[in-house]
Amino acid sequence: MHEINPAPRLLMGPGPINADPRVLRAMSAQLLGQFDPQFRQYMADAAELYRGVFQTKNRWTMLIDGTARSAIEAALVSLIAPGDKVLVPVFGRFGNLKIEIARRAGAEVIAVEKEWGQVFTDAELKAAVQKHKPRIVAVSHGDTSTTMAQPLEGLGRICRENDAILYVDATATLGGMHLPADAWNLDVVSAGLQKCLAGPSGSAPITLNARAEAIIYKRRHIEQGLQDKGYKPGEGPIIRSNYFDLAMIMDYWSDKALNHHTEATTMLYAAHECARILMEEGLQKAFERHTAASKAMSAGLKAMGLELFGDQSHKMSNVTGVFIPAGVDGDRARKAMLTEFNIEIGTSFGPLHGKIWRIGNMGYNARRDAVLVTLAALEAVLAGEKYKFTRGAGVDAARAAYAGA
Ligand SMILES: Cc1ncc(COP(=O)(O)O)c(C=O)c1O
Repeated sequence: MHEINPAPRLLMGPGPINADPRVLRAMSAQLLGQFDPQFRQYMADAAELYRGVFQTKNRWTMLIDGTARSAIEAALVSLIAPGDKVLVPVFGRFGNLKIEIARRAGAEVIAVEKEWGQVFTDAELKAAVQKHKPRIVAVSHGDTSTTMAQPLEGLGRICRENDAILYVDATATLGGMHLPADAWNLDVVSAGLQKCLAGPSGSAPITLNARAEAIIYKRRHIEQGLQDKGYKPGEGPIIRSNYFDLAMIMDYWSDKALNHHTEATTMLYAAHECARILMEEGLQKAFERHTAASKAMSAGLKAMGLELFGDQSHKMSNVTGVFIPAGVDGDRARKAMLTEFNIEIGTSFGPLHGKIWRIGNMGYNARRDAVLVTLAALEAVLAGEKYKFTRGAGVDAARAAYAGA
Protein backbone atom coordinates (compact mmCIF):
# COMPACT_ATOMS: atom_id res chain seq x y z
CA MET A 1 0.00 0.00 0.00
CA HIS A 2 1.28 3.50 -0.87
CA GLU A 3 1.86 6.32 1.55
CA ILE A 4 -0.87 8.99 1.43
CA ASN A 5 0.68 11.80 -0.59
CA PRO A 6 -2.04 14.14 -1.90
CA ALA A 7 -1.57 16.36 -4.93
CA PRO A 8 -1.00 20.04 -4.06
CA ARG A 9 -4.55 21.07 -4.96
CA LEU A 10 -5.95 24.56 -4.56
CA LEU A 11 -9.47 23.96 -3.24
CA MET A 12 -11.66 26.72 -4.70
CA GLY A 13 -15.03 24.99 -4.44
CA PRO A 14 -17.78 25.65 -1.86
CA GLY A 15 -15.76 23.89 0.88
CA PRO A 16 -13.75 22.07 2.01
CA ILE A 17 -10.87 24.44 1.34
CA ASN A 18 -7.16 24.16 2.09
CA ALA A 19 -6.52 24.27 5.81
CA ASP A 20 -4.27 27.00 7.13
CA PRO A 21 -0.83 25.40 7.66
CA ARG A 22 -0.93 26.62 11.28
CA VAL A 23 -4.00 24.44 11.82
CA LEU A 24 -2.25 21.42 10.33
CA ARG A 25 0.72 22.05 12.61
CA ALA A 26 -1.53 22.26 15.68
CA MET A 27 -3.02 18.92 14.68
CA SER A 28 0.35 17.23 14.85
CA ALA A 29 0.67 18.00 18.59
CA GLN A 30 0.85 15.06 21.01
CA LEU A 31 -2.42 13.68 22.42
CA LEU A 32 -3.64 14.27 25.97
CA GLY A 33 -6.25 12.46 28.02
CA GLN A 34 -9.59 14.23 27.97
CA PHE A 35 -9.61 14.79 31.75
CA ASP A 36 -6.00 15.95 31.90
CA PRO A 37 -6.06 19.44 33.50
CA GLN A 38 -4.04 20.78 30.58
CA PHE A 39 -6.59 19.43 28.11
CA ARG A 40 -9.54 20.76 30.15
CA GLN A 41 -7.86 24.16 29.94
CA TYR A 42 -7.62 23.79 26.14
CA MET A 43 -11.36 23.02 26.10
CA ALA A 44 -12.10 26.12 28.18
CA ASP A 45 -9.83 28.20 25.93
CA ALA A 46 -11.56 26.86 22.81
CA ALA A 47 -14.96 27.78 24.29
CA GLU A 48 -13.72 31.29 25.03
CA LEU A 49 -12.26 31.69 21.54
CA TYR A 50 -15.54 30.61 19.94
CA ARG A 51 -17.48 33.08 22.10
CA GLY A 52 -15.48 35.67 20.18
CA VAL A 53 -16.14 34.03 16.82
CA PHE A 54 -19.91 33.74 17.46
CA GLN A 55 -19.97 37.25 19.00
CA THR A 56 -21.71 35.93 22.08
CA LYS A 57 -21.49 35.78 25.85
CA ASN A 58 -23.20 32.36 25.88
CA ARG A 59 -21.82 30.09 28.56
CA TRP A 60 -22.63 27.05 26.41
CA THR A 61 -20.21 27.45 23.55
CA MET A 62 -18.68 24.09 22.72
CA LEU A 63 -17.48 21.76 20.00
CA ILE A 64 -19.42 18.76 18.73
CA ASP A 65 -17.18 15.96 17.49
CA GLY A 66 -18.23 15.45 13.89
CA THR A 67 -18.73 17.42 10.70
CA ALA A 68 -21.03 20.44 10.57
CA ARG A 69 -24.03 18.18 10.17
CA SER A 70 -23.36 16.68 13.60
CA ALA A 71 -24.00 20.03 15.28
CA ILE A 72 -27.16 20.57 13.22
CA GLU A 73 -28.37 17.19 14.40
CA ALA A 74 -27.30 17.82 18.01
CA ALA A 75 -29.17 21.13 18.05
CA LEU A 76 -32.34 19.83 16.47
CA VAL A 77 -32.59 16.49 18.27
CA SER A 78 -31.95 18.22 21.61
CA LEU A 79 -34.42 21.06 21.03
CA ILE A 80 -37.23 19.11 19.38
CA ALA A 81 -39.61 17.04 21.47
CA PRO A 82 -41.78 14.72 19.38
CA GLY A 83 -44.78 16.62 18.01
CA ASP A 84 -43.14 20.06 18.21
CA LYS A 85 -43.87 22.38 15.30
CA VAL A 86 -40.71 23.33 13.43
CA LEU A 87 -40.73 25.93 10.65
CA VAL A 88 -37.98 25.54 8.03
CA PRO A 89 -37.47 28.31 5.46
CA VAL A 90 -35.94 26.50 2.47
CA PHE A 91 -33.89 28.41 -0.10
CA GLY A 92 -31.53 25.58 -1.10
CA ARG A 93 -30.40 22.05 -0.39
CA PHE A 94 -29.43 22.67 3.22
CA GLY A 95 -32.96 23.78 4.12
CA ASN A 96 -34.08 20.34 2.99
CA LEU A 97 -31.42 18.78 5.20
CA LYS A 98 -32.94 20.50 8.24
CA ILE A 99 -36.39 19.23 7.28
CA GLU A 100 -35.03 15.70 7.11
CA ILE A 101 -33.28 15.93 10.49
CA ALA A 102 -36.26 17.61 12.20
CA ARG A 103 -38.63 14.92 10.88
CA ARG A 104 -36.36 12.16 12.20
CA ALA A 105 -36.48 13.92 15.59
CA GLY A 106 -40.29 13.60 15.50
CA ALA A 107 -41.16 17.20 14.63
CA GLU A 108 -44.22 18.33 12.76
CA VAL A 109 -42.32 20.19 10.04
CA ILE A 110 -43.71 23.14 8.12
CA ALA A 111 -41.56 24.09 5.14
CA VAL A 112 -41.80 27.42 3.35
CA GLU A 113 -39.93 27.52 0.06
CA LYS A 114 -38.14 30.10 -2.01
CA GLU A 115 -36.91 29.68 -5.54
CA TRP A 116 -33.18 28.77 -5.55
CA GLY A 117 -31.12 31.91 -6.03
CA GLN A 118 -33.42 34.09 -3.89
CA VAL A 119 -33.88 34.68 -0.15
CA PHE A 120 -36.91 35.45 2.03
CA THR A 121 -38.00 38.94 3.00
CA ASP A 122 -38.62 39.66 6.67
CA ALA A 123 -42.31 40.18 5.86
CA GLU A 124 -42.57 36.68 4.35
CA LEU A 125 -40.88 35.12 7.36
CA LYS A 126 -43.03 37.10 9.80
CA ALA A 127 -46.19 35.98 8.03
CA ALA A 128 -45.05 32.33 8.17
CA VAL A 129 -44.15 32.52 11.88
CA GLN A 130 -47.43 34.23 12.77
CA LYS A 131 -49.48 31.78 10.72
CA HIS A 132 -47.86 28.54 11.88
CA LYS A 133 -46.75 29.51 15.41
CA PRO A 134 -43.75 27.16 15.43
CA ARG A 135 -41.88 26.29 18.62
CA ILE A 136 -38.63 26.28 16.64
CA VAL A 137 -37.47 27.93 13.42
CA ALA A 138 -34.47 26.24 11.73
CA VAL A 139 -32.73 28.13 8.95
CA SER A 140 -29.43 28.32 7.06
CA HIS A 141 -27.46 31.55 7.07
CA GLY A 142 -25.56 30.88 3.86
CA ASP A 143 -26.73 27.98 1.68
CA THR A 144 -23.72 26.90 -0.37
CA SER A 145 -25.98 25.03 -2.82
CA THR A 146 -27.30 28.37 -4.12
CA THR A 147 -24.59 30.76 -2.80
CA MET A 148 -27.30 32.91 -1.16
CA ALA A 149 -27.17 34.35 2.38
CA GLN A 150 -30.45 34.85 4.24
CA PRO A 151 -30.60 38.10 6.28
CA LEU A 152 -31.24 37.05 9.87
CA GLU A 153 -31.45 40.13 12.03
CA GLY A 154 -35.16 40.61 11.32
CA LEU A 155 -35.91 36.91 11.77
CA GLY A 156 -34.21 36.98 15.18
CA ARG A 157 -36.56 39.73 16.28
CA ILE A 158 -39.61 38.01 14.78
CA CYS A 159 -38.81 34.76 16.62
CA ARG A 160 -38.33 36.59 19.93
CA GLU A 161 -41.65 38.45 19.54
CA ASN A 162 -43.44 35.20 18.74
CA ASP A 163 -41.73 33.09 21.37
CA ALA A 164 -40.05 30.72 18.92
CA ILE A 165 -36.51 29.39 19.30
CA LEU A 166 -34.28 30.26 16.34
CA TYR A 167 -31.65 27.73 15.24
CA VAL A 168 -29.15 28.94 12.60
CA ASP A 169 -26.90 26.74 10.47
CA ALA A 170 -23.88 28.98 9.88
CA THR A 171 -21.67 26.18 8.55
CA ALA A 172 -20.76 28.08 5.43
CA THR A 173 -20.50 31.64 6.74
CA LEU A 174 -19.09 31.66 10.28
CA GLY A 175 -15.84 33.61 10.21
CA GLY A 176 -16.52 34.97 6.72
CA MET A 177 -19.68 37.02 7.21
CA HIS A 178 -20.99 39.13 10.10
CA LEU A 179 -23.22 36.97 12.32
CA PRO A 180 -23.49 38.35 15.85
CA ALA A 181 -25.42 35.67 17.74
CA ASP A 182 -26.37 37.87 20.72
CA ALA A 183 -27.12 41.11 18.89
CA TRP A 184 -29.35 39.31 16.37
CA ASN A 185 -31.19 37.14 18.94
CA LEU A 186 -29.99 33.85 17.44
CA ASP A 187 -30.72 31.23 20.11
CA VAL A 188 -28.56 28.41 18.76
CA VAL A 189 -25.89 28.72 16.04
CA SER A 190 -23.59 26.01 14.71
CA ALA A 191 -20.89 25.68 12.07
CA GLY A 192 -18.04 23.53 10.74
CA LEU A 193 -14.34 24.26 10.30
CA GLN A 194 -13.91 23.52 6.60
CA LYS A 195 -15.17 26.77 5.12
CA CYS A 196 -14.37 30.27 6.41
CA LEU A 197 -12.65 28.93 9.54
CA ALA A 198 -9.78 27.49 7.47
CA GLY A 199 -9.66 24.05 9.03
CA PRO A 200 -10.51 20.47 8.11
CA SER A 201 -14.03 19.13 8.60
CA GLY A 202 -14.58 17.04 11.71
CA SER A 203 -15.31 19.50 14.52
CA ALA A 204 -18.48 21.55 14.74
CA PRO A 205 -18.58 24.68 16.93
CA ILE A 206 -21.95 25.43 18.52
CA THR A 207 -23.32 28.09 20.84
CA LEU A 208 -26.64 28.19 22.68
CA ASN A 209 -28.20 30.79 24.92
CA ALA A 210 -30.20 30.54 28.15
CA ARG A 211 -33.52 30.18 26.29
CA ALA A 212 -32.23 27.09 24.49
CA GLU A 213 -30.52 25.81 27.64
CA ALA A 214 -33.83 25.95 29.54
CA ILE A 215 -35.49 23.66 26.98
CA ILE A 216 -32.59 21.26 26.64
CA TYR A 217 -31.48 20.96 30.24
CA LYS A 218 -35.05 20.12 31.34
CA ARG A 219 -34.55 16.92 29.34
CA ARG A 220 -31.28 16.04 31.07
CA HIS A 221 -30.66 12.39 31.76
CA ILE A 222 -27.49 10.71 32.99
CA GLU A 223 -26.30 7.39 31.63
CA GLN A 224 -27.14 4.57 34.01
CA GLY A 225 -23.53 3.61 34.64
CA LEU A 226 -22.70 7.16 35.77
CA GLN A 227 -25.69 7.89 38.04
CA ASP A 228 -25.21 8.40 41.76
CA LYS A 229 -27.79 7.57 44.44
CA GLY A 230 -29.72 10.83 44.64
CA TYR A 231 -30.01 11.19 40.85
CA LYS A 232 -33.33 12.40 39.45
CA PRO A 233 -33.77 12.61 35.66
CA GLY A 234 -35.10 15.80 34.05
CA GLU A 235 -38.87 16.09 33.65
CA GLY A 236 -38.81 16.58 29.89
CA PRO A 237 -38.89 13.72 27.38
CA ILE A 238 -35.51 12.05 26.96
CA ILE A 239 -33.42 13.33 24.05
CA ARG A 240 -33.60 10.67 21.35
CA SER A 241 -29.87 10.50 20.63
CA ASN A 242 -27.16 9.65 23.10
CA TYR A 243 -24.20 10.89 21.05
CA PHE A 244 -25.89 14.20 20.16
CA ASP A 245 -27.58 14.80 23.54
CA LEU A 246 -26.60 18.43 24.19
CA ALA A 247 -27.55 18.16 27.88
CA MET A 248 -25.00 15.37 28.27
CA ILE A 249 -22.45 17.30 26.20
CA MET A 250 -23.01 20.32 28.48
CA ASP A 251 -22.29 18.13 31.53
CA TYR A 252 -19.14 16.92 29.76
CA TRP A 253 -17.90 20.43 28.92
CA SER A 254 -18.85 21.93 32.31
CA ASP A 255 -16.84 21.63 35.53
CA LYS A 256 -18.86 18.49 36.25
CA ALA A 257 -16.70 16.88 33.50
CA LEU A 258 -19.20 14.01 33.37
CA ASN A 259 -17.93 11.30 31.05
CA HIS A 260 -19.59 11.11 27.63
CA HIS A 261 -17.62 10.52 24.40
CA THR A 262 -13.82 10.42 24.19
CA GLU A 263 -12.94 13.90 23.02
CA ALA A 264 -11.44 14.06 19.51
CA THR A 265 -8.29 15.66 20.87
CA THR A 266 -6.67 16.42 17.52
CA MET A 267 -9.84 18.02 16.17
CA LEU A 268 -10.05 20.19 19.27
CA TYR A 269 -6.50 21.38 18.61
CA ALA A 270 -7.58 22.18 15.04
CA ALA A 271 -10.72 24.07 16.09
CA HIS A 272 -8.76 25.97 18.74
CA GLU A 273 -6.14 27.07 16.19
CA CYS A 274 -8.79 28.04 13.59
CA ALA A 275 -10.43 30.38 16.08
CA ARG A 276 -7.10 31.70 17.34
CA ILE A 277 -6.02 32.62 13.80
CA LEU A 278 -9.35 34.31 13.11
CA MET A 279 -9.40 36.31 16.33
CA GLU A 280 -5.78 37.37 15.79
CA GLU A 281 -6.72 38.71 12.35
CA GLY A 282 -9.88 40.30 13.77
CA LEU A 283 -13.42 39.47 12.68
CA GLN A 284 -13.93 42.69 10.76
CA LYS A 285 -10.70 42.24 8.79
CA ALA A 286 -11.60 38.64 7.98
CA PHE A 287 -15.04 39.70 6.72
CA GLU A 288 -13.44 42.40 4.57
CA ARG A 289 -10.91 39.89 3.19
CA HIS A 290 -13.74 37.59 2.12
CA THR A 291 -15.72 40.47 0.61
CA ALA A 292 -12.70 41.73 -1.35
CA ALA A 293 -12.03 38.25 -2.74
CA SER A 294 -15.68 37.79 -3.65
CA LYS A 295 -15.87 41.14 -5.44
CA ALA A 296 -12.67 40.39 -7.38
CA MET A 297 -13.90 36.91 -8.32
CA SER A 298 -17.27 38.28 -9.46
CA ALA A 299 -15.66 41.11 -11.43
CA GLY A 300 -13.29 38.64 -13.11
CA LEU A 301 -16.06 36.23 -14.08
CA LYS A 302 -18.25 39.02 -15.45
CA ALA A 303 -15.35 40.47 -17.45
CA MET A 304 -15.04 37.07 -19.12
CA GLY A 305 -18.64 37.50 -20.28
CA LEU A 306 -20.00 34.97 -17.80
CA GLU A 307 -23.33 35.41 -16.01
CA LEU A 308 -23.48 35.17 -12.23
CA PHE A 309 -26.22 33.10 -10.60
CA GLY A 310 -28.85 34.41 -8.18
CA ASP A 311 -29.74 37.63 -6.43
CA GLN A 312 -26.35 39.34 -6.21
CA SER A 313 -27.48 41.65 -3.41
CA HIS A 314 -27.81 38.57 -1.18
CA LYS A 315 -24.84 36.56 -2.40
CA MET A 316 -22.58 34.98 0.22
CA SER A 317 -19.21 36.71 0.30
CA ASN A 318 -17.28 33.46 0.14
CA VAL A 319 -18.75 31.58 -2.82
CA THR A 320 -19.97 32.63 -6.26
CA GLY A 321 -22.36 30.79 -8.54
CA VAL A 322 -21.72 31.23 -12.25
CA PHE A 323 -23.66 29.85 -15.21
CA ILE A 324 -21.75 27.37 -17.38
CA PRO A 325 -21.77 29.09 -20.79
CA ALA A 326 -23.58 27.49 -23.72
CA GLY A 327 -21.39 25.09 -25.66
CA VAL A 328 -19.07 24.42 -22.72
CA ASP A 329 -19.04 20.98 -21.09
CA GLY A 330 -19.11 21.87 -17.39
CA ASP A 331 -17.72 18.58 -16.10
CA ARG A 332 -14.96 18.45 -18.70
CA ALA A 333 -13.91 21.99 -17.83
CA ARG A 334 -13.84 21.19 -14.09
CA LYS A 335 -11.78 18.12 -14.83
CA ALA A 336 -9.27 20.18 -16.84
CA MET A 337 -9.03 22.67 -13.96
CA LEU A 338 -8.23 19.79 -11.61
CA THR A 339 -5.92 17.66 -13.69
CA GLU A 340 -4.04 20.41 -15.56
CA PHE A 341 -3.98 23.17 -12.93
CA ASN A 342 -4.59 21.32 -9.63
CA ILE A 343 -7.52 23.62 -8.93
CA GLU A 344 -10.85 22.31 -7.68
CA ILE A 345 -14.06 24.26 -8.36
CA GLY A 346 -17.56 23.05 -7.47
CA THR A 347 -20.39 21.59 -9.44
CA SER A 348 -23.96 21.93 -8.12
CA PHE A 349 -26.95 19.97 -6.86
CA GLY A 350 -30.62 19.44 -7.69
CA PRO A 351 -32.15 21.96 -10.09
CA LEU A 352 -28.77 23.65 -10.62
CA HIS A 353 -26.83 20.51 -11.50
CA GLY A 354 -25.03 20.98 -14.82
CA LYS A 355 -26.14 24.62 -14.97
CA ILE A 356 -23.76 26.43 -12.64
CA TRP A 357 -20.31 26.08 -11.18
CA ARG A 358 -19.68 27.25 -7.63
CA ILE A 359 -16.34 28.93 -7.06
CA GLY A 360 -15.29 29.57 -3.48
CA ASN A 361 -12.95 32.06 -1.90
CA MET A 362 -13.11 31.12 1.72
CA GLY A 363 -11.00 30.89 4.82
CA TYR A 364 -7.34 30.37 4.03
CA ASN A 365 -8.13 30.64 0.29
CA ALA A 366 -9.82 34.05 0.48
CA ARG A 367 -6.61 35.50 -0.91
CA ARG A 368 -5.73 37.63 -3.92
CA ASP A 369 -3.28 35.09 -5.39
CA ALA A 370 -5.81 32.24 -5.09
CA VAL A 371 -8.50 34.29 -6.83
CA LEU A 372 -6.18 35.44 -9.64
CA VAL A 373 -4.70 32.00 -10.29
CA THR A 374 -8.18 30.43 -10.41
CA LEU A 375 -9.41 33.01 -12.92
CA ALA A 376 -6.28 32.62 -15.06
CA ALA A 377 -6.73 28.84 -15.17
CA LEU A 378 -10.42 29.17 -15.96
CA GLU A 379 -9.60 31.49 -18.86
CA ALA A 380 -7.24 28.92 -20.33
CA VAL A 381 -9.75 26.11 -19.88
CA LEU A 382 -12.64 28.11 -21.38
CA ALA A 383 -10.48 29.06 -24.36
CA GLY A 384 -9.81 25.34 -24.81
CA GLU A 385 -13.59 24.81 -24.78
CA LYS A 386 -13.83 27.30 -27.72
CA TYR A 387 -15.73 29.81 -25.58
CA LYS A 388 -15.36 33.30 -27.10
CA PHE A 389 -14.15 36.08 -24.81
CA THR A 390 -11.33 38.57 -24.39
CA ARG A 391 -8.34 36.67 -23.04
CA GLY A 392 -6.88 38.27 -19.91
CA ALA A 393 -10.01 40.31 -19.17
CA GLY A 394 -10.94 38.22 -16.11
CA VAL A 395 -7.60 38.49 -14.35
CA ASP A 396 -7.31 42.18 -15.24
CA ALA A 397 -10.76 42.95 -13.83
CA ALA A 398 -10.02 41.03 -10.63
CA ARG A 399 -6.71 42.86 -10.19
CA ALA A 400 -8.50 46.15 -10.75
CA ALA A 401 -11.15 45.22 -8.17
CA TYR A 402 -8.40 44.49 -5.65
CA ALA A 403 -6.59 47.71 -6.53
CA GLY A 404 -9.83 49.63 -5.90
CA ALA A 405 -10.70 47.82 -2.69
C1 LIG B 1 -25.06 25.36 4.92
C2 LIG B 1 -24.49 24.00 5.13
N1 LIG B 1 -24.99 23.21 6.10
C3 LIG B 1 -24.50 21.99 6.33
C4 LIG B 1 -23.47 21.47 5.58
C5 LIG B 1 -23.00 20.06 5.87
O1 LIG B 1 -21.75 20.11 6.45
P1 LIG B 1 -20.87 18.78 6.69
O2 LIG B 1 -20.64 18.20 5.35
O3 LIG B 1 -19.62 19.33 7.32
O4 LIG B 1 -21.60 17.89 7.60
C6 LIG B 1 -22.91 22.24 4.57
C7 LIG B 1 -21.81 21.71 3.73
O5 LIG B 1 -21.53 22.18 2.65
C8 LIG B 1 -23.41 23.54 4.35
O6 LIG B 1 -22.91 24.34 3.38
